[in-house]
Amino acid sequence: MKYEKHIFVCANQKAEGKKCCGEAFGMEAVQHLRSRIKEANLQVEIRAQKAGCLDVCQHGPALVIYPEGTFYGSLTMENLDQIFDSHILKGEKIESLELKF
Ligand code: FES
Repeated sequence: MKYEKHIFVCANQKAEGKKCCGEAFGMEAVQHLRSRIKEANLQVEIRAQKAGCLDVCQHGPALVIYPEGTFYGSLTMENLDQIFDSHILKGEKIESLELKF
């Protein structure tokens, strides 16, 4: 496997008025995660990138982290940092933000 963790952030933009993640938030979130990855000097191990719809629109904004396949929803810039600090840096999922299926 090329990366220890691969983060896909939905940057899908649906028609006006539909619940979705949104391109603006998705791109901002990807840039923020990339900054955090660079700060932590983890560019070789961790990758963050934009994705299309993750099919969890009603819980968006959303991302998924592989290889675990952990989905997180209701993202904000604040809880994005929590996810990075806990899940990415410590390997501890945040149950309260995790989407369960
Ligand atoms: S638009 Fe983001 S999960 Fe569908």
